[in-house]
Amino acid sequence: MASRFLTRMCRQHAESLALFAAATRGGRVVDLKSYDRFRSALVQHIAIEERVLMPALTRKLGPAFEATRRKLQQDHEGILALLVPTPNEIWLQDLHEFLLHHFAVEESPGQLHALCTRHLAGDDRRLREAADRLPVIPLEPFEDGVRVPQVLARMKAAVGLPVRAFVSV
Ligand SMILES: [Fe+2]
Ligand SMILES: [Fe+2]
Repeated sequence: MASRFLTRMCRQHAESLALFAAATRGGRVVDLKSYDRFRSALVQHIAIEERVLMPALTRKLGPAFEATRRKLQQDHEGILALLVPTPNEIWLQDLHEFLLHHFAVEESPGQLHALCTRHLAGDDRRLREAADRLPVIPLEPFEDGVRVPQVLARMKAAVGLPVRAFVSV
């Protein structure tokens, strides 16, 4: 049986997709409030994975988890990058496809959720409490110009992703 923590993580996947669907139509954002709620929910979800779930798996599995962790971190950076610019048809389609793929990977056999079930079964309450303690990450305004690297770096730092030293935030 899935833990309450994992049930919550799966529900957040479904909620993110539902908010995206509510916010967009025909490749356009038609409801900016819903789109902001979608961005907030997604960034907070990624922060739980980066700051709570993946560190817990690293503590349990050590180097055996490293390749999976690195791949998911690359995905998270890609998703955040698609949240930076003012949304247009191409960005939105890429983002939607990326999310469907990323969520499916995390929920597939042997991947993030399965590893959590297998190795963190006794940590359910601690994971939920750690997720609840995370601060709410403030939304960045859209950026389409020269400040894109700085905005992305700030978003990465906020969710707990490593930031390259040469990008000032
Ligand atoms: Fe993720
Ligand atoms: Fe996820």
